[in-house]
Amino acid sequence: MSCMHVFPNSSVSQANTVRRVFKLEGGRTLVQVNGQRVISACLNVEVTAPEFANLGKLGFGESKDVMETEGRVIVGTYARTPIVLVSGKGCKLYDAEGREYLDMSSGIAVNSLGHGDPTWLKAVIEQANTLTHVSNIYYSIPQVELAKRLVACSFSDRVFFSNSGTEANEAAVKFARKFQRHSHPDAKEPPTDFISFTNSFHGRTMGALALTSKEHYRSPFEPVMPGVTFVEYGNIEATKELIQKGKTAAVFVEPIQGEGGIYSATKEFFRLLRSACDDAGALLVFDEVQCGLGRTGHLWAHESYGVFPDIMTLAKPLAGGLPIGAVLVTERVASAINFGDHGSTFAGSPLVCNAALAVLEKISEPSFLASVTKKGQYLKQILTQKLGHNPHVKEVRGLGLIVGIELDVQASPLVDACREAGLLVLTAGKGNVVRLVPPLIITEEELELAAEVLSGSLPALDGSNSK
Ligand SMILES: Cc1ncc(COP(=O)(O)O)c(C=O)c1O
Repeated sequence: MSCMHVFPNSSVSQANTVRRVFKLEGGRTLVQVNGQRVISACLNVEVTAPEFANLGKLGFGESKDVMETEGRVIVGTYARTPIVLVSGKGCKLYDAEGREYLDMSSGIAVNSLGHGDPTWLKAVIEQANTLTHVSNIYYSIPQVELAKRLVACSFSDRVFFSNSGTEANEAAVKFARKFQRHSHPDAKEPPTDFISFTNSFHGRTMGALALTSKEHYRSPFEPVMPGVTFVEYGNIEATKELIQKGKTAAVFVEPIQGEGGIYSATKEFFRLLRSACDDAGALLVFDEVQCGLGRTGHLWAHESYGVFPDIMTLAKPLAGGLPIGAVLVTERVASAINFGDHGSTFAGSPLVCNAALAVLEKISEPSFLASVTKKGQYLKQILTQKLGHNPHVKEVRGLGLIVGIELDVQASPLVDACREAGLLVLTAGKGNVVRLVPPLIITEEELELAAEVLSGSLPALDGSNSK
């Protein structure tokens, strides 16, 4: 049998190199390819990883070719940034021409362990080599193990797996409706409505889209799921009044709004929300797809409020870059759900769940979470120092390593100038917020570099008019 060789932190391609194999203790092997150490996993294919992806092999000459072809063959849903990324290592990404970027975007809050984390890579390779996918009509061990660990480290009693954030919210919508039907067996019209908030983002499928506040995302596809009312984020009186009408199946809320512009809820808002839901029998759903799993320095963002939901949705970082979603529920909610009420072909596959186990284990370490808190505080401090004096900078806010820089102008000239200087950052809000969601493993030196580049790129805003 031949072996699959994978350089930690890089992609995989055909071998044409000098290879040496060393037997180690415990049956493990150490493989060197051209003198470089690589991970070895037994498969019946022979591959090695290149420094950079081989554009030529796929028929592309350079980035320009990729972009032109994309424009012809991909449905135009993304206004893409004009770079072709081909490899990553830690907090660095590399484009097809070999330019290095410091990644403060993490694939939009996904790559919390950075790119090519060796423990994650090992979990993926070992599981791919053992069992990648089985139907959910069978039991599989990584899925049960991951659910067991999620339950052990959260408010929840049970887990449902999906493949993405929007699917997790879609499942939460169904669970909330089913819960209300189950709780009001004799009611002709059990509560079916939902409350969501201004600046919220919950996904792009018809239920999650209906809960997403930006009209611009919803209106071309109407009618979306009916029965959603948007209330001002933080306005407890208006929310309470609506919940008290008794028609609300569930309230969906992000403890920290990511896409909406890095707005945090207050403790008071969450406490009153919890008691209003309890009084009326409505469910409280926390969408932690973006802010959850260590990003705030707490394992779950809601821990900082001391308020617990009935349902929590997770996705982005959970499997370290592989597609996953999860809906964590209490036993009370789970008891309303029967066989056949929901399902998914791919969700909870052994491959994805084994990757997620590696991610969860690392991020849930108290010392790891403490390092996120420390680095988050440092990032806000240096951003305030280096950028705070600029008249376009209105506020630096956020918790842990989800940080927003609100401007009085559109952020895109600054984002473009940062990219030119080798730094990848995102926008949020109405396009007036620079969003920083770096890998949680980022170092203080890398944060300093990011703040330096942002500060040096601020003149890009000089031609912009304040709103
Ligand atoms: C808070 C929140 N919920 C849901 C989603 C949707 O997740 P996905 O893109 O995986 O469907 C996102 C994505 O940005 C999000 O930030």
